[in-house]
Amino acid sequence: MMSEGKKEKGVTIEEQIGKYHQSIFGFNTMLILGAGCKIGIFDYLYEKGKSSTQDKITSITFTPEEIILNLKLSPFYLDGWLHMAVACGIFELEDSCERCLISAPHIYDLFINRDSMFYKGNTAALMNIMALNQEFLINNFKTGNTKDYRDFPPEDCKNGQVVSTIGGAKFEQLFSNRKADFQMKFMNNGLFLEVGCGYGFNLEAWVKKYEKVKFVGIDIDPNGIAEAKKLIQKKGWEDRVELIEVSVSDYAKTNSNKFDLIMLKQVLHEMDSNENYRRQALEDIYTMLKDDGILIIGENMIPDLFKSRNEVNFFQILHKMLDLPFGSRFYDDDTFKELIYSTSFKKAEKIEGDDIYFWAITK
Ligand SMILES: C[S@@+](CC[C@H](N)C(=O)[O-])C[C@H]1O[C@@H](n2cnc3c(N)ncnc32)[C@H](O)[C@@H]1O
Repeated sequence: MMSEGKKEKGVTIEEQIGKYHQSIFGFNTMLILGAGCKIGIFDYLYEKGKSSTQDKITSITFTPEEIILNLKLSPFYLDGWLHMAVACGIFELEDSCERCLISAPHIYDLFINRDSMFYKGNTAALMNIMALNQEFLINNFKTGNTKDYRDFPPEDCKNGQVVSTIGGAKFEQLFSNRKADFQMKFMNNGLFLEVGCGYGFNLEAWVKKYEKVKFVGIDIDPNGIAEAKKLIQKKGWEDRVELIEVSVSDYAKTNSNKFDLIMLKQVLHEMDSNENYRRQALEDIYTMLKDDGILIIGENMIPDLFKSRNEVNFFQILHKMLDLPFGSRFYDDDTFKELIYSTSFKKAEKIEGDDIYFWAITK
């Protein structure tokens, strides 16, 4: 109930409207960035930056006309997009030339230069996919229907995995810092299996570092495996990496190898949501792991809504929201441990770094 005047819990209605306006602003910024990625405007500006003779590029200047010409875009639509992009602070008017625009400070590194460590373009494109799927999402609130992620356009799935594998190298660093003894043995002639390797972006970081290790990547997504194969071929790593389009259960039936390290990174929540299926998949993994091997599972732990008052992690919740159309089912620490201890595995240890964590699971 409203207390006296316009104040409720110390917040005025104007302040609350301010937050709402900020959200509209943020929402439009994401739409503009996502559309810019999908239309190819940021790619065009990236290529333009790369062809420059300058040593270090920090911003990029352009005219609307060159974008229209090079990308064959409608001047009418581009004009609207640019108005909004300026209003959202992505570009500024550049006075040094006629009818020119310039990327606002740091925008080049954040959204144009995909080689930058600060690059966030893929996340922006993912937000755009989320916006595009609102109608599907809304219709399903009543039916609870879901869709197989493999029915979404492969380029969207690929982009989703670019985002989900951001931090793949950090994951490996956390493993090598906290499991140093194991890592020393593993790096000499280990055998590594990635279940749900998707487009191969995680494997890239591991294969590069562990030159004496043999790798197997499996996934049920044919597009992911086809792209992963291309990536491994491009790097010349075919003799160390085997990629197979197969489910973990079918692979376990034919595989005779025992692995030192098996990794599932952001896979469990997306597997068939039937708990028995997941338990059996973990049992299959158990049989493929050496007795002194480690299973590492990277999953966003999402607590029950009413237990989570002090520990809401926005990006983990965003992951849950983004995965609603696929019917993904997540765990919190307790339910995850319950699942693991209902299998033959004996120990599940949560290894936490500064901003990431994984579970080290052993026999
Ligand atoms: C969200 S992606 C994660 C990709 C990557 N591991 C990462 O870190 O981002 C989940 C992947 O698991 C795969 N997957 C789901 N169920 C699987 C199963 N039963 N066996 C093998 N792969 C599976 C999906 O096809 C998808 O490529």
